[in-house]
Amino acid sequence: MKYQLFYEDKKIKWTTIEKFMNATMSLEKIKHYPVMLNQILSIISPQRGGTFIDCTFGGGGYSKAILKFSKTKVVALDRDRLSENYANMLLKKFPDRFNFYREKFGSLNKIAEKKLNPKAIIFDLGLSSLQLSDRDRGFSFEAEDFLNMEMGINDCTTYDVINFLDKGHLGNIIKVFGDEKDGKIIANKIDKYRKKKLIKSSKELSSIVKGAKKKYNNYKKNPATKTFQAIRIFVNKELTQLITGLIEATKLLSNGGILIVVSFHSLEDRIVKNFLNFYSNSKKNPSRYFPLKENENQNEYSLFESVSKKVLIPSEEEISENARSRSAKLRYGIRNSNSFSNPENFKKKFSNYFELESVVI
Ligand SMILES: C[S@@+](CC[C@H](N)C(=O)[O-])C[C@H]1O[C@@H](n2cnc3c(N)ncnc32)[C@H](O)[C@@H]1O
Repeated sequence: MKYQLFYEDKKIKWTTIEKFMNATMSLEKIKHYPVMLNQILSIISPQRGGTFIDCTFGGGGYSKAILKFSKTKVVALDRDRLSENYANMLLKKFPDRFNFYREKFGSLNKIAEKKLNPKAIIFDLGLSSLQLSDRDRGFSFEAEDFLNMEMGINDCTTYDVINFLDKGHLGNIIKVFGDEKDGKIIANKIDKYRKKKLIKSSKELSSIVKGAKKKYNNYKKNPATKTFQAIRIFVNKELTQLITGLIEATKLLSNGGILIVVSFHSLEDRIVKNFLNFYSNSKKNPSRYFPLKENENQNEYSLFESVSKKVLIPSEEEISENARSRSAKLRYGIRNSNSFSNPENFKKKFSNYFELESVVI
């Protein structure tokens, strides 16, 4: 019953967000720092024209910079409804060269076809500054508001996960997606608390986690950081979205097309690095864990002609201007003409993420 009531509450919150969305003027004033933009532009060379897919439109930093070059077209997508307002501004300015879809990049195949022949497909993972500063989303440890953490097009909120997911799964999610050794202890503490009173705000969750982390005074970061990261990943199914997005993007790219990903934490970067290595020419075998079977074709695993040898990171100057960029890692690969027929083998490598993210509340 309480659950129902709180959903009513949530609707009220969304109305507030919609009101905010209508204030287009205030959106224009929010400062954006598109992370590693200069490196991206030098990799994709928009001055030569072509079609580009921006899979994480956010506040439109990359799309806008690409559209400044007159021979370019941009197809952009984002799961977040707040991004639509920025997209509408660009649509007015570039009606013939810009398209926006409110969609998850895991469903890239729904909106783009191979004949689009994109020159590059770009992912800039994580949250936009707009989402982070929206207190109604509950991304901040100190927010009193609804425990939400939805990026958009979700099937559950953090409120659902924290209050209703069984404690075994909850502990596992915190451990694996937060790389948090105390996952089980934290889940037990949450379970004890929620039996007496449902947990409604980020602040409440953050203080429960602090209570479970005994020596939290020794932490440089907020001791709830890893738990918040884990729950956010689960609520938004971020890792399986990334794996599926990379696969769909690779299918769309033709010879010479570039796949670029900017990631912000080690779980994401591990997936990107593995993906590019798994499908690149640089190895004889795709993986020592998955040696080729007799009837398998080597070409099925050679999809990128070259991949960035070293991970690229932001300059000191960028980090001093935009602290959020400090954990950014950029990797890219340049596609060859082999067709992508075997994505399942890569998915198998990360089957534990698929299992964990598919847990139903
Ligand atoms: C770091 S921001 C992108 C910022 C953007 N590059 C800019 O310059 O403004 C990441 C964006 O990706 C979106 N996003 C995250 N996961 C997504 C997914 N699976 N599908 C579509 N959009 C996603 C988020 O909603 C957010 O707006």
